[in-house]
Amino acid sequence: MMMRSNLQEITKPLVNWFQKEKRDLPWRHTSDSYKIWISEIMLQQTRVEAVKGYYERFLQALPTLEDLAKVKEDELLKLWEGLGYYSRAKNLKKCAELLIQNNLKELPHDYIELMKLPGIGPYAAGSIGSIAYQLKTPAIDGNVLRVMTRLHEDDRDILNSKVRKDYFEKLQKIMPDNSRDFTESLMELGALICLPNGVPLCEKCPISFYCQSYKNQTIHKYPVKKKEVKRKIEEKTILILEYNGLYAIQKRPSKGLLASMYEFLNISSNLQESEVKKWLEDKKITDYQIEDFGSAKHIFSHIEWHMKGYRIKCLSKNNLDLIWASKEELEKKYSIPNAYIKYLNKILS
Ligand code: ADE
Repeated sequence: MMMRSNLQEITKPLVNWFQKEKRDLPWRHTSDSYKIWISEIMLQQTRVEAVKGYYERFLQALPTLEDLAKVKEDELLKLWEGLGYYSRAKNLKKCAELLIQNNLKELPHDYIELMKLPGIGPYAAGSIGSIAYQLKTPAIDGNVLRVMTRLHEDDRDILNSKVRKDYFEKLQKIMPDNSRDFTESLMELGALICLPNGVPLCEKCPISFYCQSYKNQTIHKYPVKKKEVKRKIEEKTILILEYNGLYAIQKRPSKGLLASMYEFLNISSNLQESEVKKWLEDKKITDYQIEDFGSAKHIFSHIEWHMKGYRIKCLSKNNLDLIWASKEELEKKYSIPNAYIKYLNKILS
């Protein structure tokens, strides 16, 4: 990742470009925080073109915070019908009721206070704060993350909240007094120039001079969104056989997961104690004490082991073809995968 020190260089060109090129959108004709709030909540999960009509109709029906607080739920949902994510509408009303009950005439002028309200998260608090109140509170959405990661050839996962926080802080530092235009300019750049699909219009971009991925022609690589991996869950019963101060281990196959490492005896399902006893009986192991050794979970990249452990103190020798290792050998000689760490530590402690 390439981080140039003076991100400040983008502020002026971006805002100048926005003031010349911005789209004429209904919520850009007002500085009423109520109206801006409604627009930002609608825009969070819906396209600009779809929001326009709803926005006008909603505000005609409910022009003030008081109207929203008083509206019947049926009427509210009718106004929202077709927009989807109906909890957004219910939260708007809840929020309006809360403010009215507390004798407040509008949303608070404070990022932290905004975030305490129903339906207002970091993005909405940032956008309402900067657009309606000129607070230095960046609004970090998918558009802004796309722009920022391309500028810096930043290959961090944008689904990681640390990345959002990082850009919040970086943008906060370079926010001009006209926070509103700055916030909207970033959104506008993402919507009109720094496009997500197909070819971005870099020739028209006011900040391409600063863009590392434009310079290196790596734009298509950003943003990085790590796919959520669906892991296969494998249930296992781990048997820690002990005899005369020695512990039974076996070598894993030379191919595949944890190839050639050593592990405790295990069975590929979660067995109850009675089932373990039966299993031992089948192996002609009868002279032992059994102790529940607790559950453990280990996460690999594509597999999760959900383990149930038992410690089996054998009171006589058995014929299983296993390696019998002392505590010292478990620690120093054999490589036991981390997946077994909980059980290993219990033995060694
Ligand atoms: N998307 C979210 N907020 C927006 C705004 N204020 N203008 C345009 N697009 C947006």
